[in-house]
This record gives sequence, structure tokens and C-alpha cells, in this order.
Amino acid sequence: MADHDQLRADFESAGQGHVFAWWDELGERARRRLARQLAAVDLSRLRELHAAVTALAAPHARSLAPAPVFELADRGFPYALADAARAVAPIGDKALRDGHVAALLVAGGQGTRLGFDGPKGCFPVLPLTGMTLFEVFARKLRRVGLEHGVTPPLYIMVGTHNESATVNFWQDNNFFGLEPDDVKFFAQGEMPALDAEGKLVMASRDALFSGPDGHGGVLQALHVKGMLADMRARGVRCLSYLQVDNAQTPVADSAFLGLHIAQGAEVSLKVVRKQDPTEKVGIYCLDDGVPGIVEYTEFSEAQSNERAGNDLRYWAGSIAVHAFNVDFLTRLAQNGTDLPLHAAHKKVPHVDRDGNTVEPAAPNAYKFERFIFDTIPLAGNVMCLEVPREEQFLPVKNTDGPHSPEGFKQAYQDYFGKAVETATGKRPPAIEVDPLAAENAREVIELAKDAAGWDLTKPLHILG
Ligand code: UTP
Repeated sequence: MADHDQLRADFESAGQGHVFAWWDELGERARRRLARQLAAVDLSRLRELHAAVTALAAPHARSLAPAPVFELADRGFPYALADAARAVAPIGDKALRDGHVAALLVAGGQGTRLGFDGPKGCFPVLPLTGMTLFEVFARKLRRVGLEHGVTPPLYIMVGTHNESATVNFWQDNNFFGLEPDDVKFFAQGEMPALDAEGKLVMASRDALFSGPDGHGGVLQALHVKGMLADMRARGVRCLSYLQVDNAQTPVADSAFLGLHIAQGAEVSLKVVRKQDPTEKVGIYCLDDGVPGIVEYTEFSEAQSNERAGNDLRYWAGSIAVHAFNVDFLTRLAQNGTDLPLHAAHKKVPHVDRDGNTVEPAAPNAYKFERFIFDTIPLAGNVMCLEVPREEQFLPVKNTDGPHSPEGFKQAYQDYFGKAVETATGKRPPAIEVDPLAAENAREVIELAKDAAGWDLTKPLHILG
């Protein structure tokens, strides 16, 4: 009980004593759970949370300039990456053959906008079979293994809210043909929320509200959960970072990895051309001369519309696909580097001071997240590669619109249907490409050369 008294005193002196409001009425188990949760809150960091809220209200002025990008060599379908990238693809292939590459899949988000009841990775995404996002990534990795003789290990970041559902899903599906020992799950950290008065939000009388600490939480989670050590023990030097909701992204892109290595980059990223000045995408650019991603909200209207010839001046939209050197992440983590916290004003269900449950109709509290792209300004050297949008960026985020499941299916089938049409002159009514068979239009066009048996009057399933 003495420990609880100390905890209570600490929270009271930090102006957060209200979290004990119902302590006296709680049973022993509920008290222990709440105390465990509170003990994990670093009160010395409340100031950092308040600073993030202030920064949200008054973003600082930016001195921006475009940053160098390796642009597409051919913008016509089926597209070609920069010559410089294609030239060094053998370097990426060698890194894969030598077992120097692992895939890092972040899947710890809450997927609120999609509204799917379960981890987002369990969402059935492909148009004919309903293959799930997780299986798509697993099959892509198996293909890399077949082609290079080594299957990169897969590190999956989960949140405490979806950890057991995710692990069970992979176990129930026999790891989709991957070696169980090569699939590592690790849980990211949590962050509390603050109300308008700067008080910690209670989810119920016996629990603090908390949510995952953002995809940038991966830095600390990789370190504290021993994943960086595991990578070093396996000889992994470079990570291919992927987000679970973008099924079109290659899991180990030789040209991208090759250029990352050849350029001596510590962090690399892929960008697509912004569709129009209003598209809500973070832009890769120089901020006070330092490369990084600047959020669309921080651009003035004039900057968003600024032109350089026929193009937007700030066109390089980040698709959150990266390559990271394990040494770089280890250095950051061992130096205790924390990525900055970003506040977001959100609707957070909670109990009010009278103990009533409230489902707010409008944003009522600040949630806090760290963003993976905040590693970019910390890197000694950064490489950025432009990729074709429909080839590598079709995320499933929302219930409606282009980034919805239906929007995905349409864009996916347009893209691969166009590949079949380019090769054969005919487009099937529907199409799915097994990730074991091909992952882009150029590969489908190659496969179509031996496609005498394809019946293009029916939905076409290209099997691996
Ligand atoms: P989003 O930013 O789209 O968030 O995540 P989300 O949680 O999936 O969806 P919403 O915003 O609640 O609708 C992009 C990627 O980053 C991962 C997600 O799982 C997704 O792969 N992510 C996000 C994490 O791993 N942890 C987080 O705390 C946040």
C-alpha cells in the first residue's frame, strides 16, 4: 500500500490527482491494474505533451525548398524507375542473397477510419479470393525467398489492443508458409491523452485512457523488445519498412535497396507525384536545409500551389515506405533519441469528473503519436526515389473514396487489367495477381507472353 501512497503523491504533485478519484471504491484487482498502468506513465514527460499541444496551435514558420529525388525514367505505362536505381538493382539482389535484409511491417494502428472489426492486416483485400493484407505480404516475402534463395525475416509491430488477435491469426494460418521462427511480433508503446485542461483522460473509473504511440513508436519498441539485437544476431543490416495497409508495395525492392546502399544512405524513402495541390500527403523537402517530411497542413496555400514549369514545385508525396540501416536505428535507440510527439485533437470516449461515461460528439482531447518520418532529419544521408503511384501506393484507409476497399479493388484491377491489355490487346472483366506470381505490370506483361491458356472473357486469376 505504501507504493500506492507514493504513486498517489506523485500524481497529486503533478496536478493529476484526479486519476485516483474512484480509488476508494475499487476492488483489489482493479486497484492493482490501475496502479500498474499509472506506474508506466512518465510524469516528467507531461511537459513534452503540453509542448506538443502548444505546437499544434501555433506551427512554426518554415523555410522550405525542394529536396533531390531520383525521378522516374519513364512516366508512360508500365513505367520505369530512375536509371540510377535500375543500374544498382544487383547490389540490392546481393544484399537479399546475403541475408542482409529484413522486412519491418508496422501493424499496430487502430484502423479507426476503416472501421474493420479486427487487426487491419486481417482485412480481405484482393478482389477475387479475398486474400488478406497479411497473406499478401507473406506471399510477397516467399517470392523473394524463391528468387534469392533467402527469405528475409519479418518483424511485425503490433499494438497491445491487437497483439493476441494478430498472433493467433498468423498461427491459425500456419504463418502463410513462412518459417514461424522468421516471423517476430513485438508490441509498441502506449501514450495517454490529455483533456483541454491538460488533465490525463480516464477511460473508466479504474483505467487511464491510452492508445498506441504512433508508427514512430517503432524506434523504441524495436530496441526495448530486443528486435534490433535479434537483427544484428541474424546479420541483418538493412530494413525494408512497410505499412500494413498498402498491399501494392514491394516487400524487398532490389532497385530501391540497391540505391539505398550505393548512395550510403541511412534512411531512404519512396515518393509519388502529388495528384493536385490539395492532396493530403506529407511532402519530402528541405526544411531549413534539412531533408524531411513536412505535413500538408504546414504548407501555405501559396506554397501548395507553387509551380516549377508544368509541375508543382512541392510534388514529392511520401508513401511511408522506407529503407533503414539497422546501425542507424541502433545508434538512435542507444542514444535514447525519442522522436518528437505530435498532438492530434480527437474524440476520446472517457468518464467525466462525476464518473459518467461520455461518448463525445466533437473532439475533446489530445492524443499523442510519434511519426516514423521524423527519423529522416536525424540521418547522415538520405535517398529518395520516385515510384509510380498505382504500382506501389494503393492504401486501404477509409470506408469510402479512393482509399477504401472498393477504391483499392478498382485501381488494382485497372492497373493489372491494363497490363494484360498491353500484352494481349484484351482486358479481362476482373483480375487478381497472386503475389507469388508477379507484383507489377511489367512482370504481368512478361507472364502474358506464355499466356496462351488465359481465357480473357472470364475473371482472370494469375497464379504463382
Ligand atoms: P495510419 O496512420 O493510417 O493509422 O497508419 P491507422 O491506425 O492504421 O488507421 P486510423 O488512422 O486509426 O484510421 C499507417 C500505418 O502505421 C501503422 C498502421 O498499422 C498502418 O500500418 N501504425 C499506426 C502503427 O503501427 N502504430 C500506430 O500507433 C499507428
